[in-house]
Amino acid sequence: MIQKQKIHPEGPAFSRIIAGAWRWHTVSPVVLERLINTALDCGITTFDHADIYGDHGNEEIFGNVLKKNPSLRSKMELISKCGIKFPSSKRPTAWVKHYDSSKEHIIWSAENSLKMLGTDRLELLLIHRPDPLLDPHEVAEAFSLLRQHGKVQHVGVSNFTPSQFRMLQHHLPYPLVTNQIEISLSKIDSLFNGDLDLLMEFNASAMAWSPLGGGKTLEVDEREVFNKAAKYNASYSQLSLAWLMKHPSKIFPIIGTTQPERITEAARSTDINLDRQDWFEMLKWVMGKEVP
Ligand SMILES: NC(=O)c1ccc[n+]([C@@H]2O[C@H](COP(=O)([O-])OP(=O)(O)OC[C@H]3O[C@@H](n4cnc5c(N)ncnc54)[C@H](OP(=O)(O)O)[C@@H]3O)[C@@H](O)[C@H]2O)c1
Repeated sequence: MIQKQKIHPEGPAFSRIIAGAWRWHTVSPVVLERLINTALDCGITTFDHADIYGDHGNEEIFGNVLKKNPSLRSKMELISKCGIKFPSSKRPTAWVKHYDSSKEHIIWSAENSLKMLGTDRLELLLIHRPDPLLDPHEVAEAFSLLRQHGKVQHVGVSNFTPSQFRMLQHHLPYPLVTNQIEISLSKIDSLFNGDLDLLMEFNASAMAWSPLGGGKTLEVDEREVFNKAAKYNASYSQLSLAWLMKHPSKIFPIIGTTQPERITEAARSTDINLDRQDWFEMLKWVMGKEVP
């Protein structure tokens, strides 16, 4: 059973592995309910959403499961994101993909996420992408109002560079509790480009999106991973998640599978403590050479 951990000393406690709802419009309502219940049964209590997932439909289908099973809400933490707009029949005023971090849009989007999910609060709201027109004063006003009214308990960002994170944090009297970024054995930049260093400086943990590279990480020569899989009695997907969680910044992987059995499989990866040399050997596999 996965334990909860704080993502920031002043932030929320989340399950160390988080379930991402991005791909969940592709399953039937019955499977969706199974995904949610399987996650909760394994201790994966935190669910990652965004206003735009499933062409603005995934929050609502998830909310329908909560409506049908009202006792589930108190067992989980909900994250959503805002700020991306694109042309869609659901959003007829957008004619080009763009970002909107205006005060008005952040508040509207968060309140709409609450309505779609059928809840009165989000444990965490993130700005989805760095917006070149982002005015930190407006974001701060929107965040503060949402927090004051209890609609959003904590705030953070996604896909921000260290300088963008630091700039926005400078304008807030409370912490950005995370930066949700792409990290996996297929995408190792953040280990070396300052993303994770910055979060450790601010005592925040990263949330890793596409922690299996959207499935790409697992496209490896099985003969190469055979010995390590046998050593830990684990699948390569479990080793890949354990590899992320070994990082001292306490990365929270957001898994994206649409198969309940794979949620159970992922949950077991929290029991694996990779040896330092095995960690570096896995890094060597993806870098194609040893560290210098
Ligand atoms: N902030 C952002 O900008 C951003 C961007 C992208 C994603 N996200 C978040 O990150 C979450 C995860 O992203 P992701 O779906 O790309 O994550 P992922 O866990 O890296 O990839 C999941 C994909 O890998 C496939 N897969 C193949 N073999 C698998 C195995 N053995 N175990 C598990 N999955 C396997 C899954 O297929 P099956 O479904 O058939 O298992 C699914 O298509 C999203 O749901 C979303 O919440 C955030």
